[in-house]
Amino acid sequence: MAVAGGSGGDGGRGRSCFVLGASGETGRVLLRELLARQLFARVTLIGRRWLSLGEETGEAVEQVVVDFERLSEHAAAFLGHDVGFCCLGTTRAKAGVDGFIRVDRDYVAQAAQLAQAGGCKHFLLQSARGANQDSHFLYLRVKGEVESLVQAVDFDRCTILRPAMLLCKRQESRPMELIVQRFLGVVAWVFPTAYSVPVEMVARAMVASVLQPGKGKVEVLENRDIHKLGKAVPQQGT
Ligand SMILES: NC(=O)c1ccc[n+]([C@@H]2O[C@H](COP(=O)([O-])OP(=O)(O)OC[C@H]3O[C@@H](n4cnc5c(N)ncnc54)[C@H](OP(=O)(O)O)[C@@H]3O)[C@@H](O)[C@H]2O)c1
Repeated sequence: MAVAGGSGGDGGRGRSCFVLGASGETGRVLLRELLARQLFARVTLIGRRWLSLGEETGEAVEQVVVDFERLSEHAAAFLGHDVGFCCLGTTRAKAGVDGFIRVDRDYVAQAAQLAQAGGCKHFLLQSARGANQDSHFLYLRVKGEVESLVQAVDFDRCTILRPAMLLCKRQESRPMELIVQRFLGVVAWVFPTAYSVPVEMVARAMVASVLQPGKGKVEVLENRDIHKLGKAVPQQGT
């Protein structure tokens, strides 16, 4: 498969990307996809901690550990990437209301600004289904707010993915999510694209988005679009 394009999926121009949230459920799978497909010559993981990666990740991967509370001091980490993937996020249960807003909105918006200033042409944001800055629900409101903030950053291309419930074997214990996941995992046999999406599909949709020419400056991919796009790239090993 060709090396990913910078802003328009035009193969061969883009050489470098960064991933925010590479230690998370989606980010981990995304990193695997990027490396297996050799889409970029350089993949920079920007995170709050060092990750132990297998030797198979090779020399293409660089890690930069940053203090997200002082992100502006880490502008160099965002320099010179053609594409930026953001799978960052926390939960209200884990971080409290303020912490959730700080991570899911402020960190992401600041990172987007630094990325654009550093030359990033295409920014992909993993948001959530139902994101709406006017929502009464904190989660959906914050997701809507961060979408607006990221859209306002002048990227050549901005892709916003709005997955429904993520299906994955989560490392972290989230009992309620596990119950809903199990239920929706069964529902997915009947309505595969309606209420949930495997993290592998989200990661592949991100890859497909980078490989394809953009449809306008801002593109919003709803859950069904993610399924459709994710199927557009072959699974590894098939
Ligand atoms: N769960 C769902 O069903 C669902 C559905 C739709 C959309 N989403 C959204 O999709 C995105 C990705 O979800 P996911 O479940 O794949 O993510 P995840 O597994 O929760 O991973 C989140 C990532 O964000 C990082 N992070 C969390 N708190 C941080 C902090 N204070 N400072 C710096 N980094 C921090 C984590 O780093 P560490 O490893 O260092 O903690 C990790 O890399 C999130 O924005 C989420 O809201 C989730």
